Amino acid sequence: MSTLVILGAQWGDEGKGKITDYLANKADFVVRYQGGDNAGHTVEIGENQYKLHLIPSGIFAGDKICVLGNGLVINPKSLLEEIKYLNDRGINTENLRISDRAHIIFPYHILLDQLEEEKKGKNKIGTTVKGIGPCYRDKVERTGIRMCDVFHKEFFEERLRENINNKNEIIEKLYGKEGLDADAIIKEYSGYLEEIKKYIADTTDLLNKSLKENKKILFEGAQGTLLDLDFGTYPYLTSSHPISGGVSIGAGISPFGLKSALGVVKAYTTRVGRGPFPTELHDEIGDAIREKGHEFGTTTGRPRRCGWLDAVMLKYSAQINGFSSFAVTRIDTLAGFDKVKICVGYELDGEKIEAFPASLETLAKCNPIYEELDGWSDEEMTNVEKYEDLPQTAKNYLKRIEELSGVKVSIASVGPKRSETLIIEEIF
Ligand code: IMP
Repeated sequence: MSTLVILGAQWGDEGKGKITDYLANKADFVVRYQGGDNAGHTVEIGENQYKLHLIPSGIFAGDKICVLGNGLVINPKSLLEEIKYLNDRGINTENLRISDRAHIIFPYHILLDQLEEEKKGKNKIGTTVKGIGPCYRDKVERTGIRMCDVFHKEFFEERLRENINNKNEIIEKLYGKEGLDADAIIKEYSGYLEEIKKYIADTTDLLNKSLKENKKILFEGAQGTLLDLDFGTYPYLTSSHPISGGVSIGAGISPFGLKSALGVVKAYTTRVGRGPFPTELHDEIGDAIREKGHEFGTTTGRPRRCGWLDAVMLKYSAQINGFSSFAVTRIDTLAGFDKVKICVGYELDGEKIEAFPASLETLAKCNPIYEELDGWSDEEMTNVEKYEDLPQTAKNYLKRIEELSGVKVSIASVGPKRSETLIIEEIF
């Protein structure tokens, strides 16, 4: 396969970074196609743990070209901090390429994200406050500033000043706050962008030419399917398209050039931010999963909400993304329970439904219908080096996921390290 999309099948934080890092060795390119520094990917290599927000996890594989596609919104200040973070740890970032069509996040996006969340009060989305939504809004409104604009100083400064003046009217009149200093922002951001200029390229042309040369391309999704702007739990979601369809728009690849998609599934469910969550556990089991799995946001440090695996959601996710297989992560975290549960349907007003509803009012009324399976112990999870070593009960759990979702499991992950990745079937 010359292309593989790796993306989250749930609400994000499924362990995509680790799986991408593992498969990146076989790729020539690793490409992000949406989102920004709202993402948080943790990768463990040997004794070292790295936390990334923007740069594709393929950066650790050394010789891979790592692309930030046109579908991203990029905060140049965060990007430079991440480049420095990696360089200080001996990781080379010279192979980074940034699409000339990607949009730029400025301080007014971040301030508006914060002010809008505050104004929404109890209805707030619970964003990462990185300015993601306001930057995508400017893109749709056609007032955004893109990476290619950096090469046209006069136009760049004029547009940025106009945007700051317009946003200041909102900040001052609607929110009663002090406006931003246009001169200071223009100076500061021109400086950052001067530093990242060398990475900006026509990545669409680069990727399409490389596909013709049969190069291998991995597309790395951020967030997850249920946070997709169209198919997620609206409005409690992000402003981009993490689904496989997002690759075409966010990287400039024809949908007919995409070969397969790997859905990354956590063995249980988590979500950060607000919104209904049918299988959420408000008890000691939920707390135990959170503690054992260190389920706290990489980007915001917020405790993640935890619950049982939801097969209704997985089936929906598989439908939209056309997954060729699943990578199931965190099987080790789910160890230690006598019984584990999978939600196989929702009970709504006395009826069983198996389709994921569009309306959150409806979703909030759905009660999970569970199937109970035997669990596996922590002891049984030590020294698991290949699929055959997995306890039979864990294998049964994976089998049931396959039956319920209609998607086979090709990778099982039993820990954060590269060596704790069990390949059931070669996929890339
Ligand atoms: P935003 O992407 O910052 O606008 O946040 C919108 C919603 O997406 C919030 O519920 C966030 O918690 C959630 N979100 C954004 N990025 C991630 C991620 O990488 N993992 C999980 N949730 C995320």
